[in-house]
Amino acid sequence: MFDLIVKGGTLPDGTTTDIGIKDGLIAAMEPLDAQAGEIIDATGDLVSPPLVDPHFHMDATMSYGIPRINASGTLLEGIGLWGELKEVMKADEVKARALTYCDWAASLGLLAIRSHVDTCHDSLMGVEVLLEVQKEVAEYIDLQLVAFPQDGLYRDPTAYENTIRALDMGVDVVGGIPHFERTMADGARSVTALCEIAAERGLMVDMHCDETDDPMSRHIETLAFETTRLGLQGRVAGSHLTSMHSMDNYYVSKLLPLMAEAEVAAIPNPLINIVLQGRHDTYPKRRGLTRVKEMQAHGITVGWGQDCVLDPWYSLGTGDMLDVAFMGMHVAQMTSPAEMQRCFDMVTTGNAQIMGLQDYGLRVGAKASMVVLDAGSAVEALRLRPDRLCVIAKGKVIARQARNEAQLSLPGRPASVRRRHRAG
Ligand code: FE2
Repeated sequence: MFDLIVKGGTLPDGTTTDIGIKDGLIAAMEPLDAQAGEIIDATGDLVSPPLVDPHFHMDATMSYGIPRINASGTLLEGIGLWGELKEVMKADEVKARALTYCDWAASLGLLAIRSHVDTCHDSLMGVEVLLEVQKEVAEYIDLQLVAFPQDGLYRDPTAYENTIRALDMGVDVVGGIPHFERTMADGARSVTALCEIAAERGLMVDMHCDETDDPMSRHIETLAFETTRLGLQGRVAGSHLTSMHSMDNYYVSKLLPLMAEAEVAAIPNPLINIVLQGRHDTYPKRRGLTRVKEMQAHGITVGWGQDCVLDPWYSLGTGDMLDVAFMGMHVAQMTSPAEMQRCFDMVTTGNAQIMGLQDYGLRVGAKASMVVLDAGSAVEALRLRPDRLCVIAKGKVIARQARNEAQLSLPGRPASVRRRHRAG
């Protein structure tokens, strides 16, 4: 007797199976002829482990237009605007926006999120709020927080002590932004200091690193070096790494093996990188996305991150990691069947690996969290970015969506067509 059976679904690897769920865990993955509290018919539909976002800013999300919009659309105006927003935002409003975003995430099957939280305001209001949100959504979303000295660990006069305070309050991961310090030397110093803090406390590291078109921004080299020196292999990620797009090829041929040796993961954020980078270029205009396929060829773990939804840096966004992967596969030109499949795996198992999630995945004994999508395969899910028919978190159904069809009134044609034109 199971609590729940998901019947006949197609897994991302193309196999089909029934999934029996009991006490919040996956208890069986085989053809099942058994009783259950509820049986969900997923025949012909994709059943995937939850979508995962390893890079987000939940303290800024849904604030578009407050106190004004980013008129130029640039990263630097966004940073200035965030400074204005921090002065006027109130805790209850930040919390309400974050919880609304979590509602969106839950409905989309996005059940694990790593969010950076700014530690450059002495009140640490954003930290307090997101720690509360982390507790409130814990039953359905794994929310991991990164202490992020967003105005620079050394550039902001109180960032260092506030970042330590945030970690003392329970923030999970050490962040940084070396390319935004005043000098290259200060940037390198900040990487060293922050990695040492992580090593002392046994924490993971995730730094905004080299989010610039400047090919000489090479803080990822220092991050890889400090990771190896301090024995942090497998616990460190570099987010964005956009300068790598513009770096000299010979230098990159040295850098990628260093990253692989240090087991430093990479988190490009394609929606944001394609919008914010290359803004100083005329034509040809750089794309700014880091070297995804080349890193993967060196065995480096690469995820796709969302970064922003409706905030000072990005006036669009839905929270759907399939939108993120869709943009990533276009900009990185990952369009072979194997590469498209990999793009889906990046926003599920790859991102889960970067976040260090335990009990994740579709296997007996893992946490029974999954999403049923109105698509026949992983690649079709990227093409359609379809409705999530059912979202299950720790064995409980938390969201349902009816299958969409458009009614047609065309002579000699079918009476209806699936909304996103599913092939099957
Ligand atoms: Fe970011």
